Amino acid sequence: MSDAICYLNGEYLPLESASVPVLDRGFIFGDGVYEVIPVYAGKPFRLFHHLERLNNSLQAIRLNNPLTDDEWEIVIQQVINHNGDGDQSVYLQVTRGVARRDHGFPGDVQPTIFIMSNPFKPVEPELLQKGVAAITLDDIRWQYCHIKSIALLPNILLRQQALEAGAVEAILLRNNEVTEGAASNVFIVLDGKILTPPKGECLLPGITRDLVVELAQANRLDREERAISRDELLRAEEIWVTSSTREILPITWLNEQPVGNGKPGPVWQRIYQIYQDYKEQLRQAS
Ligand code: PDD
Repeated sequence: MSDAICYLNGEYLPLESASVPVLDRGFIFGDGVYEVIPVYAGKPFRLFHHLERLNNSLQAIRLNNPLTDDEWEIVIQQVINHNGDGDQSVYLQVTRGVARRDHGFPGDVQPTIFIMSNPFKPVEPELLQKGVAAITLDDIRWQYCHIKSIALLPNILLRQQALEAGAVEAILLRNNEVTEGAASNVFIVLDGKILTPPKGECLLPGITRDLVVELAQANRLDREERAISRDELLRAEEIWVTSSTREILPITWLNEQPVGNGKPGPVWQRIYQIYQDYKEQLRQAS
């Protein structure tokens, strides 16, 4: 049994006793959006970037944001405080609320707001040392992948297919171009240059992705946001996937072939260190 405390529609309560009605449109239709926010030393990381993306996702599904950014900040911090002051991972979701099942939007219905926090599980040092395996799969998802929708069935099936192939992530290709991972963004190093696909409707604008781009720029690392072809992916010197939960993870095997020399590369080592130093500064800041 967990003693975690969550937030549900204005109340703080034990996660074990939180429940939503079966007619919630999140349950019935997957009609909602979510965020995952890392928390270091009790402080949410890049909170306003996450709240901005949440707002964009809500706008895209035509659901009014039920809270202001200031209100979100308060309730998120309360959930964090209830769950200790260590490293955590906050999950929040907003659904279109509870209504008789009908595809069209319901009339005057309150959205459901749910927030929970779990201990942050860092990537095992051994995986960072050796890197991990990925496979390529066709991106079978819809055309609005920039929305952080709770309807994740395609992502789940793709991730599961990767796991069953002994890999940790699926790198997705649409029209022979890399979009992103099943639950991550993708970077490659080609001829010494860091590349990542540009933002658009084919991929989620990852908060970690944006920070990696920002840090690469600030540290004058050669980088470009542009389309990456299948061929370029297959001959990349390095491949990384980024997400709030796994930070920057080196992919050292792709489709059972080594990436570069099969070890995490020097550009990854550099950006990973820069990223850790950046986090450390935030930890120290009061
Ligand atoms: N997913 N692309 C997809 C499809 C994702 O699901 C995620 C993250 C990312 C990376 O975004 P960010 O850097 O903001 O975490 C990209 C989260 C972690 C999840 O679903 O658990």
